[in-house]
Amino acid sequence: MPFTAPKGTYDVLPPDSAWFLAVRDALVAPARRAGYGYLETPAFEETGLFERGVGESTDVVTKEMYTFADKGGRSLTLRPEGTASVVRAVTEHGLERGQLPVKVFYAGPMFRYERPQSGRFRQFQQVGVEALGLDDPALDAEIVALAVHAFAELGLTEVRLLLNSIGDGACRPAYVEQLRQFLRTVSAELDPDTRQRVELNSLRVLDDKRPEVQERLADAPLITDHLCPGCQEHYDAVRGHLGDLGIVWTETPRLVRGLDYYRRTTFELQHAGLGAQSAVGGGGRYDGLSEDIGGPPLPGIGWALGIERTLLALDAEGVRPAVPARCQVFVVPLGAEAKRAALRLADDLRGRGVAADLAYGNRGLKGAMKAADRSGASYAVVLGDRDLAAGVGQLKDLTSGKQHAVALADIGAEIACRLGGQP
Ligand code: HAM
Repeated sequence: MPFTAPKGTYDVLPPDSAWFLAVRDALVAPARRAGYGYLETPAFEETGLFERGVGESTDVVTKEMYTFADKGGRSLTLRPEGTASVVRAVTEHGLERGQLPVKVFYAGPMFRYERPQSGRFRQFQQVGVEALGLDDPALDAEIVALAVHAFAELGLTEVRLLLNSIGDGACRPAYVEQLRQFLRTVSAELDPDTRQRVELNSLRVLDDKRPEVQERLADAPLITDHLCPGCQEHYDAVRGHLGDLGIVWTETPRLVRGLDYYRRTTFELQHAGLGAQSAVGGGGRYDGLSEDIGGPPLPGIGWALGIERTLLALDAEGVRPAVPARCQVFVVPLGAEAKRAALRLADDLRGRGVAADLAYGNRGLKGAMKAADRSGASYAVVLGDRDLAAGVGQLKDLTSGKQHAVALADIGAEIACRLGGQP
């Protein structure tokens, strides 16, 4: 094999690709019902958008971006996430000057140069939603609920919602300073990389999953004890609305996210069956992001859910989302004249909303019936020369094995009727 897919990437192939599409559509279905409109941005942007939007001290920007110079000498980056691009697109086109909130959803590949492992890829697929223009706590609750419903509607029962507020420009700097002071008191017991992180991005140290680091953090100050009155009131209101909606969550005061733009509400959705890469989704409020990238003040909140990890979660729970039938009727022509009739019949069935296929190549009856079985169809129509001369086709129920002749003129309508399509 001369070429294979690049490290950390994969191909989505039929028939499993049907699960992929079903999951992608199901994850955004609740948002579409809540008035979120589809938005698409380019797969690459000016590098500065992510440096300033996502944050220069994050792992995503310092280590994981696919950055390249194009032939015009511009520095471009394959998008590592969607939020900065959405804010750029919304403000570039002035959507925030219309009805607020601006509610959008998106789906597509993201790119991060990470160490590949189960559930972690270099090109991966997210669906996301963003609601921009208001800092209404009810909107935070709506956004969180949409993610919870998305997983529940897929049939997942083991997704846990972790919730936190990480404060804002008024209260977080003082908290981070206190945290840094605390971390310095234990830094002799930390490895050099972590010691450096204490100075550069203290909050990220809280996110370190290693038990030996977590042990040192037992007495670390918590952001939720240092929220300013505005943030406290906002967080209380968000939790009140979530309670009204019957959403269950776990307070997680050490939850910090890997992107710098978050303010106030932050959350993650985790699945216990996934091992180290347990986050099936995450998000939060990002009220300063628009200004950080040179735009107007524009509060916002949103999430992104990972499709690959959702598929792994479905596997772990043994749940399969419903997918449309690949083939409901398989037509088997025996001879050249029958081939013409078979192609017309399949075309007619497809026009009636029935998934239909036929045996191509000149296989005999046995090979063609094997193909019919493999197609997953519920019915086969066998067209032989003698049938054609009599103006009929043999309609075979592939479940019961029963077969009877039906006039060719009526066969499309009869099958559509049996399958609930348009007669
Ligand atoms: P994120 O937490 O970086 O947030 O990514 C969201 C989800 O994408 C993760 O929970 C995970 O399921 C999936 N994901 C991330 N990296 C990988 C990877 N390397 N391989 C496979 N799946 C991955 C964001 O991207 C924010 N833009 C979310 C957001 C939207 N915040 C506000 N609005």
